[in-house]
Amino acid sequence: MATQPDASEETLANLLHEHRRFPPDAGFTAQANATSSDYEASASDRLAFWAQQARRLDWSHEWTQVLDWSNAPFAKWFVGGRLNAATNCLDRHVAAGRGDRVAYYFEGEGGDTRTITYAQLTDMVCQAANTLTDLGVKAGDRVAIYMPMIPETVVAMLACARIGAPHTVVFGGFSADALRTRIHDCDARIVVTSDGAYRRGKVVGLKSAVDEALLDCPDVRSVLVVRRTGQDIDWTPGRDIWWHDSVDQASTEHHAEDFDAEHPLYVMYTSGTTGKPKGILHTTGGYLTQCSYTHWAVFDLKAESDIFWTAADIGWVTGHSYIVYGPLANGATSVLYEGTPDTPHQGRWWEIVDKYKVSILYCAPTAIRTFMKWGAQIPAKYSLGSLRLIGTVGEPINPAAYIWYRENIGHNRTPVVDTWWQTETGSILVSPLPGVTAGKPGAAMKALPGIVADVVDDAGSPVPDGAGGYLVLREPWPSMLRTIWGDDDRYVDTYWSRFPGLYFAGDGAKKDEDGDIWLLGRVDDVMNVAGHRLSTTEIESALVSHAKVAEAAVIGASDETTGQAIVAFVILRSEAGDGGPEVVQELRDHVAKEIGKIARPRQIMVVPELPKTRSGKIMRRLLKDVAQDRPIGDVTTLADSSVMDLIKAGMPSDAERRH
Ligand code: PRX
Repeated sequence: MATQPDASEETLANLLHEHRRFPPDAGFTAQANATSSDYEASASDRLAFWAQQARRLDWSHEWTQVLDWSNAPFAKWFVGGRLNAATNCLDRHVAAGRGDRVAYYFEGEGGDTRTITYAQLTDMVCQAANTLTDLGVKAGDRVAIYMPMIPETVVAMLACARIGAPHTVVFGGFSADALRTRIHDCDARIVVTSDGAYRRGKVVGLKSAVDEALLDCPDVRSVLVVRRTGQDIDWTPGRDIWWHDSVDQASTEHHAEDFDAEHPLYVMYTSGTTGKPKGILHTTGGYLTQCSYTHWAVFDLKAESDIFWTAADIGWVTGHSYIVYGPLANGATSVLYEGTPDTPHQGRWWEIVDKYKVSILYCAPTAIRTFMKWGAQIPAKYSLGSLRLIGTVGEPINPAAYIWYRENIGHNRTPVVDTWWQTETGSILVSPLPGVTAGKPGAAMKALPGIVADVVDDAGSPVPDGAGGYLVLREPWPSMLRTIWGDDDRYVDTYWSRFPGLYFAGDGAKKDEDGDIWLLGRVDDVMNVAGHRLSTTEIESALVSHAKVAEAAVIGASDETTGQAIVAFVILRSEAGDGGPEVVQELRDHVAKEIGKIARPRQIMVVPELPKTRSGKIMRRLLKDVAQDRPIGDVTTLADSSVMDLIKAGMPSDAERRH
């Protein structure tokens, strides 16, 4: 007798069924960079496919072997090849006669602007490379960069790459403490910073945080300081150097050495589930190859005509790969925006899109849900007619948010690419290819050409179509992390031990009936309700599909009857007002109707804000503490720690909850 699968055997339930499809538009397909034969070509000879992509770059010495995986999971790509990442991003475009092409349109938060061409950027990077060399920085030395979103941040990164000194960019919103931990971990001896930064119209200090961090970093010998705000700062003679007194005065002549393909390019820290952040190491040849390829294929980049905008911070991997290395390797023109989406008004992004005629926009679902909350009337005031492709990254995008983005920003004309990747993967691995793959709201769809992804069950066996499990990668890829800085064992343990021979990303996923991939959130967040393993994502998406809801976060709180019970925190859209008491019942019924009774939340809290990390990810762990009346855990990575007080103040007590 056919029965439901035994709940205890189920790896992750597949609840949400989304039937909307957006096949590629014939006009777009006709001009698209990617073609369906890319999948076949890469499947028949994956390494030949990557060798072909590596030829997008200039190599001073050709590699002798595409991949050395004999010491797995420690990969070597393009063995023996030599190149310089910075000259690949800059000099070669200038040498090809494209020096006058704009590399960046910089838009300051306060409205100040700068237009920087490839020739100018090359000169600036040569100057900074000369200054770093004068400061004694040699190939292999680490340089910490703690900066706002200004052109000098890009210049500092590329100057490091040019001289072979791996950079570690620490997000400018992090504290002195976070900066110090990272400087210690990678033993950086030089810090590049600015006096301060503009944030929401106010001036905040960066140099002051560096001073505080360095109280405990005796090995740091020089601090290079860009003047951005002009605020007063403390000065340590002999250690601190103004950028305008050094870099701006340096020679624009600089001979760039070549480096081994596996030479370290940068270390990017990402928080681990416990304790010490992990320094993710990326190297040169494979990383740049895959950033360049994915930027070209996934965004359909036409370097001569597109204006590309990744609206993320350079302090995250998204900024490294798709503001700096991918776009510059491809000779693209990008927008670099310093500020927040609501400074000085909630239409700022759309104003920028119209001003620069942005044709490709890449941002995070958290931003899209914020725009949903503010209302469609805001982008409606702008033309947005220049956009031809829009993308998202960083979290699962709820189908309702995808549709909102497609309608209100893409005007139902542009493809939407939902791109899955991680700090560790270095570049996009799972995404539709525009012009080739149909869009499904909420699905990241398919592994890109050259990538072998799968969804497996607890035992590591592939799940059938229509079932949920864990997202894994079966084969190494060029831009993969090489290790965790200084901790090879932690690298093996964290990524390669759960399923032997497979890279496990930590994400839940499902294959739909067509075999397409949907991301279901971090497996640490999975809930177990009456024996069913439910993903937070699907229930959140059901909530967000209600017209009154802009954002939702779901957690499992312990429950006497069901093991765990679903508790949801929702932010209503502006036009829904405060919703009234009946809204909670309406939303509970809505979830039950959309995905089944099993997913009906025990409790729904209407909240003004959700706790998020500075890169916009919801911190469900903290909501769990609130829901279970526990003391609230570590809030140091929260963007705004007062959010927790607001949420806590609105929670009913345990006694009230039982009635
Ligand atoms: O959980 C996945 C989620 O973000 C994680 C990686 O975060 P981070 O290293 O900060 O890099 C963010 C930018 C690449 C993943 O493990 N994630 C990222 N993109 C998506 C996503 N979840 C669902 N859909 C996506 N498109």
